[in-house]
Amino acid sequence: MRIHHIGYLVKNIAKARGPFEELGYEAEGEVVYDPLRDIDILFMVNGDYRIELVQPKSPESVVANTLKKIGNSPYHICYYCDDISKAQIELHEKGYYPLGDIEPAVAIGGRKVCFMLNPAIGMIELVEET
Ligand code: NI
Repeated sequence: MRIHHIGYLVKNIAKARGPFEELGYEAEGEVVYDPLRDIDILFMVNGDYRIELVQPKSPESVVANTLKKIGNSPYHICYYCDDISKAQIELHEKGYYPLGDIEPAVAIGGRKVCFMLNPAIGMIELVEET
C-alpha cells in the first residue's frame, strides 16, 4: 500500500516547525484544528516524504496520553486505499483491529480515514484516495 504520510506527535507545532524546515521540509497548507480529535495538524513535505505534525490541544485529546508516553515521536504510518470500508474489512480478516469508526479528516480535505491496530506492528491509518 502506498504511503500518504507519517504521523508525528509533537508537544508544540509552532516550535517543531522551524527545526523541520531546517531539515528540508516545507509546510503544505496551514495549521488546521481537528475538533473530532482535539488536535492541531500541520502537513510538511520533504521530497517524496510527507509528515503530519500532530499536537494535542488538551489532556482529553485522543493522543495526549501517547504523547506523554513517547514524547515528540513518529507514531503511525498512513496508507492510501481506494475504498476504505472494503480495506478495513480486508485488513480485519488479516488480523488488524479497528480503532474507532471511519471518520472525515478535516486536515485532508474531509477525506475518510480510520485507524487500525495490528498486534505485531501497532497502529496504522488508512485514507481513502478520492
Ligand atoms: Ni495521520
